[in-house]
Formats: sequence, C-alpha cells, structure tokens
Amino acid sequence: MLYLSHIASLGAIFQLPATGYALLYNGVMAVPTLPLSPTDRVFVLTGAGVSAESGLKTFRDQGGLWEGYRVEDVATPEAWDEDAARVWRFYSQRRRDAGQAEPNAAHRALAGLEQRLGDRFLLCTQNVDDLHERAGSQRLIHMHGELFVSRCEDNCGRPPFPDRSLYESEEAIARCACGARIRPHIVWFGEMPLEMERIQREIDRSTVMLVVGTSGAVYPAANFVRWAGPRVRKVYIGPEEPMNAAAFTQIVLGNAGEVLPGLLQVV
Ligand code: APR
Repeated sequence: MLYLSHIASLGAIFQLPATGYALLYNGVMAVPTLPLSPTDRVFVLTGAGVSAESGLKTFRDQGGLWEGYRVEDVATPEAWDEDAARVWRFYSQRRRDAGQAEPNAAHRALAGLEQRLGDRFLLCTQNVDDLHERAGSQRLIHMHGELFVSRCEDNCGRPPFPDRSLYESEEAIARCACGARIRPHIVWFGEMPLEMERIQREIDRSTVMLVVGTSGAVYPAANFVRWAGPRVRKVYIGPEEPMNAAAFTQIVLGNAGEVLPGLLQVV
C-alpha cells in the first residue's frame, strides 16, 4: 500500500551519480531546450515550487508552510479527529491564498507542452491549488487532492464536490446530508494518494519524465523517478537539488517560471 509519507520514515541518503550533471541557469549557461521526438511520451510531476512564483508558499523552504504549522496538527486524520476546526482554518487560509494567486509562466509552459503533445502527455501534481487547470492543463491528476473540493468525512457515498467556502469554527463546518461533517478533499499523511494505478501506467509507458519544484521528501511521489525505466530521460527543474537527485539524468537549477518556457520552447 502506498500511503503518503515522509522520507524521514525511510532514512534514505542520496548522492549525485557520476552520470548526472547539473546545468546552472542564471547567466552561467543558456537555458537548455529539451529535445522531443514525435514518439516521446512525457510524464510530468510538479510540486509546490511550481506555484512559488505565483506567490504561494512551499512547504519545506525557509518561511514555508511547515515552519508555521506542524504536519501533525493540520494534515493527518488524527488532527481532524482532534480538532477539525483547526484543520479547516488551515485549509480556509489556503483557499484564500490560492484564490488570489494567478498561474505563472511555468504553469503556462506546461499547458503549452500538453497542447503540442496531446495524449502523449500527462501532468501529475502534488499541489492542491488549481493553477495548472487555470493555465489550461487538462490531462491532469491531483494526486494529493484538490483545495477547492470537499467531501463527506464518512465517505457516505456522496461524491466529492466543488466547494470554495471558508470554515473557521466547529459550528461553521458544513454537514453532509448523512449528518457527518464535510472535510477537505486533501490526501493527508497516512492516507492513500489518488489515481495511483493510472499514474503507474503512465510512468510505465513514458520516455521522458520532468519533475518540477518538489523536494523529493514525500512518498510515493519521490519514488516516481525510480519507477521509470532506465531508458527514460529524467529531468529535474528547481532552484536546488531535490533529496532524490541521484535518480535523475539531468538537473536544471533555476526557477520553474524562468526555465520551463525556454526548456519546453513554449515562450
Ligand atoms: N521553481 C521551482 N522550484 C522551486 C521554486 C521555483 N520558483 N521555489 C522553490 N522551489 C522548490 C524548492 O527548492 C523545493 O525543492 O520547490 C520545492 C518545494 O518542496 P516542498 O516544500 O517540500 O514541497 P513539495 O515537494 O511539493 O511537497 C510535497 O508534501 O507537505 C506535503 O502534501 C504536501 O504535496 C505536498 C508534499
């Protein structure tokens, strides 16, 4: 079973392999472009870093969300059982922030690549914001859930539904028709990420994997680069090496919004 978990629980240490190489962006070298053939199939994984230039906080960077909150207080089933209002205050604030943010050049570049590749493209995001879809992405999986969707805490059968409401006290939390409370449609630590079979299938048939703006600290997403076959080109884009850097064939250091439009030639 593939529950959401931290690298700390696995205790892994990685180093860059001899075959891996880093390209420095920001004047040191020109932005590289990614050569794609008409038969290439591209699997993209994004994390919080892709929305950083839209003004949304990442989790583990300095000043990130996990500096202000403890995961155990707001992002676990136990936190929900202990204090649902605290959990909803956290996600209500995130609804406010994401509602005010706009897609950036990185979101748009990925939507542009999808237009070029059609069904040879799949974007899997760990992000719960809606900036990818607002930039035009359609072949998109939100493996950690969606911020603007809620569902019944008891899974009574009512499907998850669109919801932009803010719930800031226990009394304010909406109730399902079955009487249970409405919870965020978010995958918390210890829960199963969504659509894992489809993700596995798409990774199996991909020839290129692009990973953007994720620290490689949270599983199972941090393992996708290892699930891809040895002939798959695996490229990481972000301002610093991720924790799973050793598994990539190429690391492009730079901000996603500055690197991706040139890399994907969708300026
Ligand atoms: N462009 C690209 N990457 C960036 C940028 C940027 N402008 N700014 C920061 N980054 C990178 C950081 O270097 C860091 O490696 O984004 C990464 C963000 O890492 P995390 O904060 O750990 O976020 P993420 O990897 O998406 O977290 C995974 O953890 O808390 C859970 O469920 C939550 O989906 C989340 C998961």
